[in-house]
Amino acid sequence: MSNPLKLTHFLHGGDYNPDQWLDHPEIIDRDFHLFQQAHLNSITLGVFSWAKLEPSEGHYDFSWLDDIFDRAEAQGTHVILATPSGARPRWLAEKYPEVLRVDDHGQRQHFGERHNHCYTSPIYREKVQTINRKSAERYGHRKSLLMWHISNEYGGQCFCDLCQAAFRDWLKTKYHSLDCLNHAYWSSFWSHTYTSWDQVEAPSPLGDQSVTGLNLDWHRFVTDRTIDFFENEIKPLRELTPNIPVTTNFMGGNPPESHVFTDLDYQKFAEHVDIVSWDSYPNWSNDYESTAQLAMKTALMNDEMRSLKHDNYLIMESTPSQVNWHPYNRSKRPGMHEMGSLQQIAHGSDSVMYFQLHQSRGASEMFHGAVITNNLSDQTRAFKDVTTVGHDLQQLTGAVATHRRDARVAIVFDYDNMWALDDSRNYANATKQYWRTIQEHYQYFWEHDIPVDIVKTSDDLTPYTLVIDPMHFLMDQAFAAKLKAYVHQGGHLVGTYITGIVDRNDLAYQGGWLPDLQATYGLTVQETDTLYPHQHNTLKAFDKTYTTKDYSDLLVLDGAEPLGTYERDFYAGTTAISRHPLGQGAAYYLGCRTDTDFLEDFYRSLDRSLKLTPELPLKKKTPTVSIQVRENATAHFYFVINFSHQATTIQLTQPLTDALTHQPADSTQELPAYGVRVFTDSQD
Ligand code: GAL
Repeated sequence: MSNPLKLTHFLHGGDYNPDQWLDHPEIIDRDFHLFQQAHLNSITLGVFSWAKLEPSEGHYDFSWLDDIFDRAEAQGTHVILATPSGARPRWLAEKYPEVLRVDDHGQRQHFGERHNHCYTSPIYREKVQTINRKSAERYGHRKSLLMWHISNEYGGQCFCDLCQAAFRDWLKTKYHSLDCLNHAYWSSFWSHTYTSWDQVEAPSPLGDQSVTGLNLDWHRFVTDRTIDFFENEIKPLRELTPNIPVTTNFMGGNPPESHVFTDLDYQKFAEHVDIVSWDSYPNWSNDYESTAQLAMKTALMNDEMRSLKHDNYLIMESTPSQVNWHPYNRSKRPGMHEMGSLQQIAHGSDSVMYFQLHQSRGASEMFHGAVITNNLSDQTRAFKDVTTVGHDLQQLTGAVATHRRDARVAIVFDYDNMWALDDSRNYANATKQYWRTIQEHYQYFWEHDIPVDIVKTSDDLTPYTLVIDPMHFLMDQAFAAKLKAYVHQGGHLVGTYITGIVDRNDLAYQGGWLPDLQATYGLTVQETDTLYPHQHNTLKAFDKTYTTKDYSDLLVLDGAEPLGTYERDFYAGTTAISRHPLGQGAAYYLGCRTDTDFLEDFYRSLDRSLKLTPELPLKKKTPTVSIQVRENATAHFYFVINFSHQATTIQLTQPLTDALTHQPADSTQELPAYGVRVFTDSQD
């Protein structure tokens, strides 16, 4: 079921907890006044409000929320209404301890914190459904209700008896017989053979953590259990409000690595939401990477989120200023709020929303940035920055009905592969770095304004001219066959070291590399040399010498032609990089890890032959300026953002309108530090 969010303007708003201010109606009055002043058009209510909505079991108090709905409606503001399951009231945990999560040592948690409920507990599921039903009955008809925000940032695991039993049921459905399970887990190793289903337990430091197939299944089960809990949550909402879309806020991109969130398979979860939304908190102005480098990683996270449904998405949370939970919480430099906010719109977000609209007065988030801070002023830098972005979004209304330009380049990313690779007892834990490898391959395209999608293995590859499939350690035979067919039909494929080693059960392939991979890349991989962090080899390619690191595959060519050779060690002179023409296309294999200098030269040569860099009506002088295009059949919007503390200029090579001022744009445009410009050929 998919229920599209139909917008006529970008959403600008965020989490609002007036339940903290009910005894100060004058504060709430002023908040609403300030929301208008800052061009906010959406408020997200009810996240963590359960204790105020159901102060004791079965006794509900919606009066305060009614009042907030009335106020929102009086000024035409959307409401995104959250289900409150992300944190429960004390009475619930006291009366029904089974709702509390159990850790992997078998210890039940005390009441406290948030995001720590059992996903299986029938009582919790029932209580959540009941309050969700009450909310839908009460607010389902309100004209301001735009969308359901289900729970908050699902994550984590529970190891209670109920979850263990559910895990066993899940395994029975998957494997049918213990023989199949024993085979999949290769359990005769160390005499771990299961003789009864009751013996199966989730991985734990007190039990098994070395059965990698079990670990992988546990990850998959946790995703399925979380989705099952989510489906339970939304049942009354689908029934009572079938036309209201549902979302839940995903996570990712946090410091220090700007990594994807690893607990849950979002590619699977995304099939269950109507629109993807996520919470984005890059640590701008940190001391270990440039603004442009972090912008590249943040762009990738946005592309990953957009690619989950290959559609526009929402930023559900971001900070108007700084957060309180990064290792160091820097203020945004002047201009950075607009820079980061419009970057999200540029990649396909239809919103800029914040945590939080009004700062909490106490507890752990009292110092987290907010649109309205504790001094209640409209003169803070954050308030003014938010007002600027609100104004921008109003000017950009014409871009709402657009999508990020279709990509001709795709990078494959797979959760099972990430989990299995991270858990593989080989290579080097410090250097595997699957996501960082994806970031390094993405960099060239970001710097050259070439749109990229991040695809899952079930996606259709045929729309892409170039598919990059790095470190695909766990790959099933069907995907190997899909890659071969893709190349045969004219696709261009780049694969790397540590690919095609294990099957879906995390069992090693027998008898050498998968025949379809051999046929695709025109080679076989004999072994992988894992280097220590200070060891290097060198690679001769493109008449240059590059330093290699971490991994060197030893290759035997069978049809492929060498593009680069190792220069050192016992495999000096053998092929490190190869190209294999196959059918209408070609497959490239990168047997070693390099720095981005090689990747830049390598992808430049592919870019030249495949003509990947788009013809844009703007010329930039530096790769630290990014140009992203949103478009539809009649109009293009060019988002030009300077991710640098140094001003620069860009040239327009065709007449365009400045979409933020609606004036004809001069051909030379100044871009100040962290500056943003949006140009359009739209006639509206
Ligand atoms: C998010 C969370 C919010 C708030 C915010 C602070 O992860 O959903 O409730 O805690 O972080 O940055």
